Order: sequence, then C-alpha cells, then structure tokens
Amino acid sequence: MSSLHHRHLAVSPDWLALYYRNPLEITHGEGRHVWDADGSRYLDFFGGILTTMTAHALPEVTKAVSEQAGRIIHSSTLYLNRPMIELAERIASLSGIPDARVFFTTSGTEANDTALLLATTYRRSNQILAMRNSYHGRSFSAVSITGNNAWSPTSLSPLQTLYVHGGVRTRGPYAHLSDAEFTAACVADLEDLLGHTRTPAALIAEPIQGVGGFTSPPDGLYAAFREVLDRHGILWISDEVQTGWGRSGEHFWGWQAHGENGPPDILTFAKGIGNGMSIGGVVARAEVMNCLDANSISTFGGSPVTMAAGLANLSYLLEHDLQGNARRVGGLLIERLRAVGAASERVREVRGRGLMIGIELVKPGTDEADPEAAAAVLEAAREGGLLIGKGGGHNTSVLRIAPPLSLAIPEAEEGAEILAEALHSVG
Ligand SMILES: Cc1ncc(COP(=O)(O)O)c(C=O)c1O
Repeated sequence: MSSLHHRHLAVSPDWLALYYRNPLEITHGEGRHVWDADGSRYLDFFGGILTTMTAHALPEVTKAVSEQAGRIIHSSTLYLNRPMIELAERIASLSGIPDARVFFTTSGTEANDTALLLATTYRRSNQILAMRNSYHGRSFSAVSITGNNAWSPTSLSPLQTLYVHGGVRTRGPYAHLSDAEFTAACVADLEDLLGHTRTPAALIAEPIQGVGGFTSPPDGLYAAFREVLDRHGILWISDEVQTGWGRSGEHFWGWQAHGENGPPDILTFAKGIGNGMSIGGVVARAEVMNCLDANSISTFGGSPVTMAAGLANLSYLLEHDLQGNARRVGGLLIERLRAVGAASERVREVRGRGLMIGIELVKPGTDEADPEAAAAVLEAAREGGLLIGKGGGHNTSVLRIAPPLSLAIPEAEEGAEILAEALHSVG
C-alpha cells in the first residue's frame, strides 16, 4: 500500500469510495489523457465523473481562471458580479425555459436541494415523485429522493418520496413490453399512484440515469408524464447534472428527448459546465424561482473564478460544436463497443447515447448482475492504460464510459480496443 493510500484511509471516512486495489494518484492531465504519480499515462474515459467536459488543462479555461484569480477571487452575491450575470444570461437562453432565472450553487447536490426547496414551497407540499434507481446527490434532502439503496444511507427524510417506474428500460416488471406499451404502463402506474396520494410538489428525474448505470426510458416518456403532471399542477424537475451541455450528442439537454410538451419547470445542472471548477445551479421560470419569501444565498455560488471558467468552457463547447463531436465520435464508439459486447457472454447490454455509454455485465449464461466482473474489467482496463467508471442499480455491474466531449476518433478506437482486451482477460 502506498503511503498516501495509508494516510487517506487513516484520515478519510470509510464511505468515501476509492477506485482500484492500488488507488491512483492523478497528478496532471492534458486533453483526454491523465498521468499518475509514477508517470504512467492513461486515456481518460470517465473525466472525473463526467466533470472534465471539454478537455483536461484546456488553455482557454486555465487562462480565464488565472486571469480572474489575479483580479479578484471572491466578492459574494451582495455585490454585482459581471461573469456571473454573463453566464446566467447564457444558461437562461440555452435552457429552453421561458422567463428563466438562474441561481448558482457549488454542486449538483445543492442545485437539487434548491430545486426541492422551490418546488415544495411553490406547491406547499413535501411530497416528491422520484424515479426508481435515481441518484440526485448526497445531502439529507437529496438522499431522500435517491431510488438506489447503495447511495442512500438513511431513510430518515424531510420529504415524503414516492418512487415511479420508468427510468430503467430493460429490467423490472415492464421490461418485456414494447416502447409504446412500456410508456403506457408507466403512465398508468403514475396515474394510479396519484390516485392514492395528496398533491405532490414535483417529479424529479434524470433523463439518463447516471449513477444508476446510464439507463433511460424510451424517448417521450417524460413528455407523457408531463401531460399527467400538468393536470395535477405538479412541477417537472429535470436533473441535467450528467446529461447537460450536449453530452448525449443528439440533444443539448437530456429533457429534449422528452420535449413534445415543452421544457421542464425546473432544470438543475453541475459537473461539466465548470470543467472541474465547482459550479452547480438551478434554472426555473421566474414565478417558480421567486416563490421564496425569505432571503437565500450560497456564499460560494457564482464566485467570479468559477464563473470565468464556466464562460470560457461553455464558449469553447459551443464554438467547437462538441455536442456534434459527441454524436459522431460517440456513435462510432458505441458501435465498436456493441461489436465487442456481442462477442462476450458477460455483456448483457451496451446502451447510451453520445459520449454516455454503459456496458452492463452479468454472470455468463444468466441475467444476474456481476459486480465482481465489473471491478475486474475496471482493473484490467487500467492496466491497459484506460480509466473508466462503474455504476448501476443495487449491484455496481455497469461499466460507465463518459470521456471529455472533445474525444478524437483514434482515441475512441484505442479505448474500445483496450476495453475489448480487458473484457477478454476477465474471461
Ligand atoms: C444526476 C446527478 N445529480 C446530482 C448529483 C450530485 O452532484 P454533486 O456530486 O456535485 O453534489 C450527481 C452526482 O453524481 C448526479 O449524477
């Protein structure tokens, strides 16, 4: 065990998970690569949990951060903050939400906590509809809307949460149905549930479940839910912490795969927008955002340095059409991985869109999740020079692949080859 690993274990909480038998110390990065303390280079297909969105050490972001840090690092929202207003304006207009207001936080958890505060206050109800297999963050309120027991250390809750079917297409009681039947069954279940409850404040959902293993419903499911929710005045919160900014290739936001009945009432974001700087936030139409009748601030939310990073990162993303790159290179990567999966008895499903791809592993010849195999493939991929992630339901048996959106075709090909070898080595 390295001495840093030893010190980590001695001083950190036991529940702070570390990847790999011999955990990595990443010392620097460039583009889609990172280096460890021993000087080994890795192709990075996880981007620090989908957070290094454009590229490591992107000169435009580094320059914006250092220039802003040289001027002023913090002033607080008690004073006018130019980079914050500029980023808020851009996000408001990109969000698709009419008359949008934007509030910045420092994490996805705090963004979702804000969305819950808004929805429960606006609707005067502490009931929330959430999806089974969901993950929305680590705070007391976020844990109480987490439909994944591996990430939910307590059932104590300020909210009454009711879990809805639909986020997982290929497992569960409706898995055998066609897309249209699946959607109809989930809508019927939602209607039935609403017949047995008071008046929930909101439905919160990740368009593609992240921690849950990159699972998603058929396109249009949340639009069909929306029709039901509208009849009851229930708000729709789209958690875009993993799916935002074009990662899914086809859409800028995940909700756009379900957009027939308009945008969500509330949208939350974090991770990729800061390319590693701590930015989270919530967008809501003014009527909803302004429903609080007491003051509320996030001391670090909207800090000039993070906002400068967000602006530079967003400009780069849009100017270089990284959404289009995610669609093209992600399309090629998923095809390669489908071919790899077809040749392995361990691969139950290769799914996802854009640069958000999940490979679900099972015990050969069964439908049983195989977390040990996922851990072994993760190790083998690292040996081969590739970093990936894991996730999924009750058992962490899904490999998660989410490189920076600037991924080049040769890098996608190289990563697919390393993964094929890693899967092969596990047998
Ligand atoms: C969909 C989703 N929402 C919220 C969060 C919480 O974000 P953070 O870890 O920045 O608090 C995460 C983190 O993984 C997430 O995947």
